[in-house]
Amino acid sequence: MKHTDPLRVLFAASEVQPLVKTGGLADVSGALPPALRRAGVDARVLLPAYPGVIEQIGGEPTGGELRPLPQGPLARIYQGTLPGDDTPVYALACPALYERPGGPYVDPDGRDWPDNALRFGMLSRVAALFGCEGGLAHWLADVIHANDWQTGLSAAQLAYMPEARARVVLTVHNIAFQGNFPRETLTDLALPPLSFGLNGVEYFGRVSFLKAGLVYADHIVAVSPSYAREIQTSAFGSGMEGVVAARRDRLSGVLNGIDVRAWDPSRDPHLPQRYGPDSLDDKALNRRALQERFGLVSDPAQAVVGMVTRLTWQKGVDLVLELLPTLLRQPVQIVLLGAGDRAYEARWRRAAEDLPGRVGVVIGYDEPLAHLVEAGADAFLMPSRFEPCGLNQMYSMRYGTPPIVRQTGGLADSVVDTTPATLDDGTATGFVFQGASEVELLAAIHRALLAQRDRATWRAVQRNGMSTDFSWDRSAAEYLALYHRVLSRH
Ligand code: ADP
Ligand code: GLC
Repeated sequence: MKHTDPLRVLFAASEVQPLVKTGGLADVSGALPPALRRAGVDARVLLPAYPGVIEQIGGEPTGGELRPLPQGPLARIYQGTLPGDDTPVYALACPALYERPGGPYVDPDGRDWPDNALRFGMLSRVAALFGCEGGLAHWLADVIHANDWQTGLSAAQLAYMPEARARVVLTVHNIAFQGNFPRETLTDLALPPLSFGLNGVEYFGRVSFLKAGLVYADHIVAVSPSYAREIQTSAFGSGMEGVVAARRDRLSGVLNGIDVRAWDPSRDPHLPQRYGPDSLDDKALNRRALQERFGLVSDPAQAVVGMVTRLTWQKGVDLVLELLPTLLRQPVQIVLLGAGDRAYEARWRRAAEDLPGRVGVVIGYDEPLAHLVEAGADAFLMPSRFEPCGLNQMYSMRYGTPPIVRQTGGLADSVVDTTPATLDDGTATGFVFQGASEVELLAAIHRALLAQRDRATWRAVQRNGMSTDFSWDRSAAEYLALYHRVLSRH
């Protein structure tokens, strides 16, 4: 690289907002690369050409067919741009692997695709090829920025390519998802037998995509400083804590940002009533719309607590279910928008039937409705058992909807508990509790309800959150410094 050239970063991910999304990884992939470009980086995105992706990016083929994995199917690379942005996007087209109904990881019945090793092994391999002498599609990356297990394998694949030129940075968004597959997949993935060992991709007799990334990446980033510490412990490491701890000198925590244009209560097209820090009374109109949409009684004396979440164990949604009868003795209503584990979906549906007017539930994935919950709720609840970063608490602070969160991962790093001291120094932005227990959760909600009754206190907490800088530019600057550090190392 000549020092006058911009740094070239390939951001490889399995989901990218607004093209395909199951969770926060998509938000990050859709917002960090544009922020890096604003900081002068030639950042480009790589993702699989799931149905509709090529059309959405206005993609054109970049060349002929290639066979990224020696024994795998043929593929083609299309180039376009992120919708509404000039960030270049490469879509990896391989109809046999990516052209199917269902989600990026699971079939329409919620079962993992049986060929996920091949699907993401190929994606990883193509990412690695962008970092080899000559590059791909006439573009050679200086840094391959891999994300989670789906692209984590690229670090190992690149390590065994003689033409390798790029460095690899791996961001860990969730260490609980590891992409562990039978040993036999090793050859399909174009990895040599010697990579299958304790200091390689082997994990309890299987090939682990995530471990591959953790072992071979030049640097590892966790999506919050707290999560970077947590994943070195058995309580949070999901079995990878030893691998992570062994690399702690190559590990950092960088808190995600949020897309402050898409999440802006003063410009949000999804809201019946827009508002800002000086017009917080207008929020009430959104609250009424929210109550109506969720079939709740319109009683101004009852506070609305909102949740927007994947329905999984991680998110602690079962703790709230257990708590509902006790919780509803207080003047409060609960709104939940979520999808995920079928058992949780059924239990929440039942709760809404059993407690009509007080508990409103929409099962499904609904982006505009997520905005209405952020704007219309009085407070936002995230009782996560673990939360690598979490974005919703930042959205809610920006919407003047103080979050009630468990002190873990990015929740701990982004929300400041309301106390006399933090009210005094103007830093209070929400309500934080420690243990994943119902008693502590209940106490935190109680504290929030009390605070809400004191208008001056509540307005202060709301405005502190609304004026906090959660923009991507801050995180992008940290990533940029990190790329330079990695490239200057030998
Ligand atoms: P995670 O990635 O673990 O699910 P995050 O808080 O990082 O958690 O990101 C979740 C993202 O997905 C947020 O943008 C949130 O608004 C969105 N989201 C989650 N569930 C839903 C849903 N049911 N409908 C709409 N958006 C949702
Ligand atoms: C994961 C984590 C979430 C984080 C997101 C984006 O899905 O569960 O906490 O915000 O990745 O990094």
